[in-house]
Amino acid sequence: MSIELHFNGIHTGVAPGSSLFDYAEPLGINVPTSCKKNGKCKECVVEVVEGMELLSKPVPAEKHLRDKFRLSCCCKIIADSGVVRCHTMRRGEMRIERHAFQLPAGNEKWQLDPAITRDGDRILLDGEEIARSTSPIHGLAMDLGTTTIVVRLLNLETGEVIADASFENPQRFGGSDVMSRIQYDTEVHSKLLQRTLVGYLTHAIEEFPVDPKTIYELVVAGNSTMRDIFFRLSVYSIGQSPYRSITELEMEEGKRTTTSLSETAKKLLLPIHPKARVYGLPIISGHVGADAAACMLGVNIANEDRVIAVMDIGTNTELILGNKNKIFAASCPAGPAFEGGAISCGMPGLPGAIEKVKIAEDGSIQVGVIGGVPAQGICGSGLVDMLGELLRTNQMNQLGRFESGEDKIVLDVASDSPIYFSEGDVNELAQAKGANVAGLHVIFHDYGIRFEEVDVFYLAGGFGRYLSVESSKRIGLLPNIDDSKIIQVGNAAIEGACIALLSRTKRAELENLVKRVTHCRLEAHPNFFNYFVEGCQFHPVASSPELEKFPAS
Ligand code: FES
Repeated sequence: MSIELHFNGIHTGVAPGSSLFDYAEPLGINVPTSCKKNGKCKECVVEVVEGMELLSKPVPAEKHLRDKFRLSCCCKIIADSGVVRCHTMRRGEMRIERHAFQLPAGNEKWQLDPAITRDGDRILLDGEEIARSTSPIHGLAMDLGTTTIVVRLLNLETGEVIADASFENPQRFGGSDVMSRIQYDTEVHSKLLQRTLVGYLTHAIEEFPVDPKTIYELVVAGNSTMRDIFFRLSVYSIGQSPYRSITELEMEEGKRTTTSLSETAKKLLLPIHPKARVYGLPIISGHVGADAAACMLGVNIANEDRVIAVMDIGTNTELILGNKNKIFAASCPAGPAFEGGAISCGMPGLPGAIEKVKIAEDGSIQVGVIGGVPAQGICGSGLVDMLGELLRTNQMNQLGRFESGEDKIVLDVASDSPIYFSEGDVNELAQAKGANVAGLHVIFHDYGIRFEEVDVFYLAGGFGRYLSVESSKRIGLLPNIDDSKIIQVGNAAIEGACIALLSRTKRAELENLVKRVTHCRLEAHPNFFNYFVEGCQFHPVASSPELEKFPAS
């Protein structure tokens, strides 16, 4: 008898009796670990999507894990037959990109001015010696998302980007959205989320083609919760009205002058130079965090005359609107649906994800899969395409109901297991879209302009980069404005974090800028519910009727 094991999409027959970790090794699957596979490091988490009943019962070392998550070194296959389907917290691919850093448009005054400098063999941090070395000096910029993490390695003397790495946030076992992570960090196991993330980050840093001890600064962008968990701060207050980071509360009490954070690498258990500084970019307010702040640097809003909007769609969507004179910002708790979370066959935008969908005239569904490998699931841009195509071909109505009367659509694609899209998935996406659309309405309304009056609409974030603008406008995820105004800029937060790493001047500019931003609190807005309900429907979205219907607050 043997068990059919599907591990990270690799299929094999195995005899029972070993741990999932032990099965992974001969398959060439790299399960993160930094202990002796004895339940100590907690890094070897896997998500078991099928066959949990075929595994041994959880041991005390796994008591921090919920739902489908297990420590792969601690759970053995104990049944004789059946199917076990599991995967590690997925790792992305590391790209080596040796290229000069791209300056933001119109930012000609920007120049290399890092906090880390060299004087002969003396390595200085803000002018103070922290090490002696003749090797090149490096820094890291990190965008710490609820779902995905991007880390970029730079040479601090030349500004050259040496490499970057991305991986799924392994804290997912503590919940897929910000609120559940806050609850987990507060109630279940303080600091475990941080330690798990540091374990993954350590592996990513060690794979970079430089000695980690030549890395002397790390700049962190991330939403308020992710940033504060990383700095081992209590995030309890971010989960309670009025939803403030402990740094924001301390600033209000006069105990600090900025919400930015500074800590040593040693204190945060990072494998880089122990005296390296870890700098957390300032947050704006509430859930509008250091990622939104980094985006502002990335698009150079402080020097912008035009009215620009930035929308970074994610588990928490950030919105920024304005120019050098007036800036508004908001955060929308959209949830993980558009990043593939909470969707039956959803997954992040990694190899194996369906990223494009087209319905042909004969009704067949054609897909594009990242990496050209067999499909494992559907990522955000594929989901938006799917909705757009179903709407275009009248197979789904504006309320998100399938016209066929079936509750799911099975995709006829090469894959290891059936991939389908259900009405339940549509509901999840409708609610995520509703939150995003409500955010757009509130921020434009409060700013006092219509969607079509914006000069540039930057669509930021890894997800936004690959999104079909046509499908997004059709389903009403993006406002119905001229295509020429919509610019897909990719990960503006990591660009902003790089700028802060390479320029003390720009870092200081951002410290001042965040204090000038008006935070639109969606939860307190009188029209939020109306906007949300309307946003849950699938049709193009325009602002003019709403501006007249609901007077400015
Ligand atoms: S390998 Fe360390 S806990 Fe499983």
